[in-house]
Amino acid sequence: MTRVLRTPIFAANWKLNHGPTDARAFMQRFLQQVPRVDDRSLLIFPSALSLAAVVDAIKDRPDVIVGVQQVHTESLGAFTGENSVVIARDAGARAVLVGHSERRHLFGETDEATGRKMRLALDARLIPMLCVGETLAEREAGATEHVVLRQLEAGLSALSVAEVSQVVLAYEPVWAIGTGRTATPADASAIHGVLRGALRSRAGDRAGHIPICYGGSVNRGNVAELLAAPDVDGVLVGGASLDADGWSAIVRTEVAH
Ligand code: 13P
Repeated sequence: MTRVLRTPIFAANWKLNHGPTDARAFMQRFLQQVPRVDDRSLLIFPSALSLAAVVDAIKDRPDVIVGVQQVHTESLGAFTGENSVVIARDAGARAVLVGHSERRHLFGETDEATGRKMRLALDARLIPMLCVGETLAEREAGATEHVVLRQLEAGLSALSVAEVSQVVLAYEPVWAIGTGRTATPADASAIHGVLRGALRSRAGDRAGHIPICYGGSVNRGNVAELLAAPDVDGVLVGGASLDADGWSAIVRTEVAH
C-alpha cells in the first residue's frame, strides 16, 4: 500500500497573500533554490487568483503540487464568487484544503460542509487535506480530543474505508495559528496519536499510511524537531511560507527517518 503523498510533507498555505506577480517571483526564486525532490512532498496553496501563475511555474516540476485553499459544497451552478473542485482540477490544482480553522471560525464552515467537501474533492481526483484543531477555550476546557475527533469523523463521514486512505490530515490548534505559540512536539505527537487511533478503528492497517501534518507557527527554528516527533508526517505552514528564501530553507530540512 503506497502513501497518497511521500512523507515528510511540506505544505505552504499562503492564505490571502501573494497575487500573481508576487507568486511568479516567489516560484522563480523557490524553484532555483530547491532542485527536484523525490524524498518528500512539496505543496503550495496559493490564492485561487494566483493558481494559474503557480501552475505555469511548475510545469516542468512534477514534484511540486499546487492546491486551492477552499471550495464550495457544490461542484457547479449558480454560486457567485465560489470555487469548485471541478474547476480547480481543470485549472491544474491537485489538492484542496478542507475545514481550515479560518474557514470554520471566520466564515462559519460547518462539520457537515467539510464532509461534503471531502466527498467532492475525491470525486474530482483532488487530494483533500482535512484540517482539524481546537480553540484555546476548548483546550482549556479539556475538550481537545473530543473536538478533533468530532471534526475528523464529520470530515470522513461520506468516505469508504478505501477512500479514507486517500486523505491527508492536518492538526492545527487554533491557539497556535499566527500567534507564535507552537504546540510542543510532544503536544503535537499526542494529538496525532489520538487521530491515528481513530483512523485505525476506521481503516485498520491502512491508517498507518495516512499522513498527519502539524500546523501552527511552524518556522525554520522548530520544523526539524516537530518533524522528528512520532506521528508527525509533515507540516502545514502559513506565515513562514511567504518568503521564498525562508520557505526554501524549511523544505530542505534534514529529517530523521
Ligand atoms: P501560521 O504558520 O502562520 O501559524 O499558520 C498556520 C496555518 O494556518 C496553516 O494553514
